[in-house]
Order: sequence, then structure tokens, then C-alpha cells
Amino acid sequence: MAYRFTDLLPADFADRSLREDVRTGLTADPKWLPPKWFYDKTGSALFEDITRLPEYYPTRSERAILQTHAAGIVRSSKARHLVELGSGSSEKTRLLLDHLADGENVYTALDVSGSALRQAAESLAGNYPGLRIEAVRADFEQHLAQVLRDPLTGRGAGGRLVAFLGGTIGNLRPAERQVFLGSVRAGLEAGDAFLLGADLVKSPKVLVPAYDDAAGVTAAFNLNLLQVLNQRLGADFDPETFRHRAVWNEDEAWIEMRLRATRPLAVRFENLDLSLVFAQGEELRTEISAKFTRARLEQEFTASGFRPDGWWTDPGDRFSLSLWRPA
Ligand code: SAH
Ligand code: AVI
Repeated sequence: MAYRFTDLLPADFADRSLREDVRTGLTADPKWLPPKWFYDKTGSALFEDITRLPEYYPTRSERAILQTHAAGIVRSSKARHLVELGSGSSEKTRLLLDHLADGENVYTALDVSGSALRQAAESLAGNYPGLRIEAVRADFEQHLAQVLRDPLTGRGAGGRLVAFLGGTIGNLRPAERQVFLGSVRAGLEAGDAFLLGADLVKSPKVLVPAYDDAAGVTAAFNLNLLQVLNQRLGADFDPETFRHRAVWNEDEAWIEMRLRATRPLAVRFENLDLSLVFAQGEELRTEISAKFTRARLEQEFTASGFRPDGWWTDPGDRFSLSLWRPA
């Protein structure tokens, strides 16, 4: 097993942080939860199933861009060290790893999901025997600037490429996104570059089915969140009493994934000393997935101290890759 696994999450992360999020989000009106709790072992596997669905175009579109442009992007960055935030299965990442500059190459995969990290690192280690692989379990919303200054992520190693693929930036709310971009910028050194995969605004006729597929895989992914709450916090959600919904919010330019209670119900969290009620039809927002325009990304990145250094889309103009450098 030629990789190193470092857990930067506190031992009580799942407990403490999830408890706080549940107390905040499920006692709010409307109810909501942050999407990072989707990714237990089952959730990470269901996400991989989503990436292969005919309706879910983002993964395929981003892969198409990488197949055409990864060599040029990575070579122009001269990076020997690739850091990936929210790396998941690290599948598309291979297209970047193939073009790192000559010399000792390092890949730091950072994800909140230990199971996804281990599976990805094991598979990569088999295929890239010369690559140093650092699998880092961390929350990219917490202490990211420090993590990017740690030797684990290649500080001082010369130009680094920090990648954030898949459109995961869209899962952050606007204020969280601003904090996140500030942390990335604070953690970058001169000569580093940030590679972003971001989904683009398009017709809801394409967007809604991508988040509400005919086979029901996205529904299973969404409903699995209730199992995570049952397992980790001793809640007694009956997933059968909720229905998956995907709604395009035109004003905010984001998809909302929701779980709708199909009848009035009460839920008890054994480990939290918390009881909740859902009215019939009441919805819990489990995820936003924001869609972007080039102008909006340029405005937000410029405001966070970056300058644009490249923009690529797939032939259908569905998804974007963009490169950013410290201004
Ligand atoms: N980059 C991959 C995976 C995207 S799925 C791709 O493009 O296919 C989103 C990934 O981000 C999941 O693996 C999830 O565990 C991770 N993730 C979500 N929130 C996170 C957080 N706050 N900190 C670290 N990883 C997070
Ligand atoms: C990880 N993230 C970019 C996915 C998305 O498209 O927002 C998560 C997802 N949710 C439902 N389907 C996929």
C-alpha cells in the first residue's frame, strides 16, 4: 500500500460537527443541512453511480475537457505536485497526473470521506508506482489555508497545482464560497495555480433531470443522508416517508435538492436529546448546486485576489475548467 494516510479531522469530527450542523440546520425554518454529510461509504459509492448516469452530464463533460486540455494546462503550470480538494474517486485526476513535470511527483488527495480516499489511493498506487501519494482526510471548509501551508500539500516545493474539480464549488453557499476562496488564496504561494471545474448555467430541462434521474440513483443518494443521521446520531428517520425533489432556483442560479415529508411526522435524535416535527409537505434542503457564468466566476475570483489564466469548456458548453493564479 504505497500511500500515506493522514487524518487531520479531530476524533470527534463526525459527532461534534454533525451535531452542530443538525442543531443549526434542522431547527431552522426552512430546514437545511450541509451536503458534506452525504459522503459516508454508501453515499460516496452512490455518487460514483451518479457520475455514470445518462442524465448527469457534469462528470462526462469535465472529463472531455480534461482529455483535450489537461496536457497543456499541467505543462504550462510546470507543477510537480498536484493537490486535489474533494478528490473523491480521483478518477479524472489521472488525466492531470499523467502530465506532471519531470522529477519527483506528489499527489495530495484531500477529502472528508476516509473510504473514498483509501479506495482512490490504493487504486492510484497500483497504477502510478513512482508517485508519492498523500491521502489527507480534512474538511476543506476548515483550516484550508493552514493545510495548504503544510508540507503534506507541498509547500515550498515550487509550483503546485491545486485542483477543485467536479463542480463541488457549487455546493458551497455564496458566503461559504467567499470564505473558501479566501482560504485557497491565502494558502497559495507565488508560482502556484488553482484549477477549477465549475458547472455552467443552462436550461432547467437539462439541469433538473441531472438531479432527478429516471433510475432513482440521485433519490437514493439524497435519502441516504437520513440513514447517516440514523446511524451517527441515533435518529429514527423512516426514509420511506420522504420523497426526493430537485428544484431549479432561477433567482439564485442553483439546483436545490430537497427531501419532502409525505405525511406529518416526528423524529427523535437519541444521541442529541433533540426531537423535531415535519409537517406534511415540509421540505429539508440537503444541497445546493450552483451553476456559474464566466463573468460571475471572474468577478468572484478577482475579488478574492486571483487573476484568470485560462478558460476551457466542452463542445456542448455545459461545463468549464478555469485556471487562476495569485494576482
Ligand atoms: N472531485 C470528484 C468528487 C466530487 S464529489 C469528482 O469530480 O468526481 C464531492 C467530493 O467532495 C466527495 O468525495 C466529498 O466527500 C468531498 N467533500 C464534500 N464536502 C467536503 C468538505 N467540506 N471537505 C472535504 N471534502 C469534502
Ligand atoms: C459533488 N457535487 C458537485 C455534485 C453536484 O452535482 O452538485 C453532488 C451531486 N448531488 C446530486 N447529484 C450530484
